[in-house]
Amino acid sequence: MEDKVDLIYRGKSYKFPLINGSEDEPAIDIKTLRAQTGLITLDPGYKNTGSCESEITFLDGEEGILRYRGYSIDDLANNTSFIEVAYLLIFGDLPKLDQLQKFEDDIRDYALVDEDFKIILKSFPKSAHPMGILSSLTSALIAFNPSSVDINSEKDFYEAIIILLAKFPVLASWTHRKMKGLPLNYPNYDLSYTDNLAYMIYKMPNKDFRASTTLVSALNKLLILHADHEQNCSTSTVRMVGSSHAGLFPSIASGISALWGPLHGGANQAVIEMLEEIKNDGGDTKKFMAKAKDKNDPFRLMGFGHRVYKNFDPRAKIIKTAADEVLDELGINDPVLEIAKKLEQEALEDPYFVDRKLYPNVDFYSGIIYRALGIPTEMFTVMFAIGRLPGWIAQWKEMRFNKEPIGRPRQIYTGHKHRKV
Ligand code: ACO
Repeated sequence: MEDKVDLIYRGKSYKFPLINGSEDEPAIDIKTLRAQTGLITLDPGYKNTGSCESEITFLDGEEGILRYRGYSIDDLANNTSFIEVAYLLIFGDLPKLDQLQKFEDDIRDYALVDEDFKIILKSFPKSAHPMGILSSLTSALIAFNPSSVDINSEKDFYEAIIILLAKFPVLASWTHRKMKGLPLNYPNYDLSYTDNLAYMIYKMPNKDFRASTTLVSALNKLLILHADHEQNCSTSTVRMVGSSHAGLFPSIASGISALWGPLHGGANQAVIEMLEEIKNDGGDTKKFMAKAKDKNDPFRLMGFGHRVYKNFDPRAKIIKTAADEVLDELGINDPVLEIAKKLEQEALEDPYFVDRKLYPNVDFYSGIIYRALGIPTEMFTVMFAIGRLPGWIAQWKEMRFNKEPIGRPRQIYTGHKHRKV
């Protein structure tokens, strides 16, 4: 096979090498395009642009395949814990028993946060969105740990990773407790990472709390399914910010902001808000289906469609089963969830959605599970962020260790030509 691609421009021929990924996905290497031809490429939304070479996650949108470091997402979701997956993503292999033990113990040891964080938290109004607070508190970690991001020191870098994994769920749970006016919880040393997450969210000062197996298993799956998704908007943001050699913590804080948007991680919140809107409007799903198809109406069916999965979202398949289990076990009778089921069925049979390959994505079902578990809507994207954290860390680490250059796209200028005042 020809390993070069010819480009003919103004009668002159240029050759560009083809580069193949380990799953035989070909790409044109255009690193020298501008230097050779004076041309740049225009690709809004980067739909055709590879921003980096990466060994972390393989995703085939046509076939609905998602693998972390070679392991399929259903294998991981069914057979590992979130913290094993975090180790896998960040360090490249699943941990052996002693490595896992050390990793978990280190995370436990670093779980306390400086009490001054409570002063920062106090200064936010109760109405503040938890994602905004989480982003601010994550940024503040740099002020409390100024020397923890030196990537040339293996020990320091490991410590920065542990600090983040340990303190992030604590801060995340605090955003929820703040919103609800509840006392802040710390993790319990004897519990696992996922158990602790539930503990910090739900534990009341005047009642014992023990998370049910269904709750922990559903949370574990949700976190694993969200743990990485190659170069999506928030991950690209983390890599881009980190490419200026900004530290790990502020880079992650930027990722949180990117994740917040309703077209990305904010979709799980938007799904429930949309379902509530439909319910309050009388529950006519057909009316909203028509709105979603009307090009003059900005309404979109939240939780449907995906930038890369044009067949099905493999995460949605796994999480749909978990959602059914949770709803069954909790015996929940919620009109909003009934509307979700109707909408799902109607969209799967509607030619508009079928022709455009718009299927329910992971956020459609994750919103449903979180609602059934009694997690407030504003917290959904925070839960997503907790899951995505190891992916962000792994991608940031890879970007720095690969010594990637600062991210700096070009543009096609379409404004005024030179004019005088
Ligand atoms: N409802 C109605 N129509 C839709 C929807 C939707 N949810 N999604 C896409 N379409 C239509 C578009 O109008 C377009 O129609 P056209 O070809 O007639 O113009 C066609 O499907 C293709 O849509 P694009 O916007 O080009 O698809 P893109 O890949 O750019 O966008 C996205 C993907 C942003 C996810 C989009 O499907 C969407 O907005 N979905 C709802 C929000 C959502 O659920 N986001 C979560 C994504 S998953 C995640 O971040 C973990």
